[in-house]
Amino acid sequence: MRLGVNIDHIATLREARAIYEPDPLEAVFIAKNAGASQITLHLREDRRHIHDSDVKRIVESSPLPVNIESALDEKVIDYLCAIVPQRITLVPEKREEITTEGGLDIESHYESIREVLKAFEAQGIATALFIDPKKESIFLARELGAQAVELHTGRYANLHLMKNTNLSRTHRRITELDLPPQELESEIQKSLDSIGQCAKLATSSMDTRALECFAGHGLNYQNVADIVRIPYISELNIGHSIIARSVFVGLERAIMDMRRAMCQR
Ligand code: PXP
Repeated sequence: MRLGVNIDHIATLREARAIYEPDPLEAVFIAKNAGASQITLHLREDRRHIHDSDVKRIVESSPLPVNIESALDEKVIDYLCAIVPQRITLVPEKREEITTEGGLDIESHYESIREVLKAFEAQGIATALFIDPKKESIFLARELGAQAVELHTGRYANLHLMKNTNLSRTHRRITELDLPPQELESEIQKSLDSIGQCAKLATSSMDTRALECFAGHGLNYQNVADIVRIPYISELNIGHSIIARSVFVGLERAIMDMRRAMCQR
């Protein structure tokens, strides 16, 4: 299974001081040495971490394929069409959110997504849609002709945190998931089941072309093994947990540790 390393938070740290370091471009070479298969970046509308110039420098110099996450924002889309990364993953975006909270609402943005996918295809850019693990979204993604879907694992990850860490006893507990341990366990299982069923549906041959299936969001060293066991998922995109660990052990080791955690089936 491939590992895409999301390096946005290297830029978050740089922006905290608004100078030139740490440089996300340097992370690209370290990630390659550590066995990552891809670099993932999110060019957010508010440019809170990655900037246009980072995208340009990284796409031009990266020895690994680059996957850019983008909202349906005309200016960002035009910029990315000119830069031509290997892949663009369409994601929903809200200014006030800390991180991407849910998957794309394909039904409400059907026509705009279709237009944007056509524009990417014309430039030879591979496309993915970041969606919640729901069957209807898989059918819509197939109908639209996307090449891949990335399943949002945020709910699974949050349930895992509430069950297996101290989070539920802190002011950061996720109130809507404040459930007894047995119920959390059963919700985790249900969450894994829907991810598995959607991955199978996405990758099966039907009347339309099969999709590739990726997954990501909130994955960490503790919760990744159960996702890796799902046979139809070919790639994970992981950011926060790797960058958080890298502060203590260095980026190369943090990525190698994640690769190891992904091999523990
Ligand atoms: N995949 C997508 C589409 C995302 O938007 C993000 C967060 O930017 C990630 C993966 C990585 O999530 P995390 O930082 O929680 O590992």
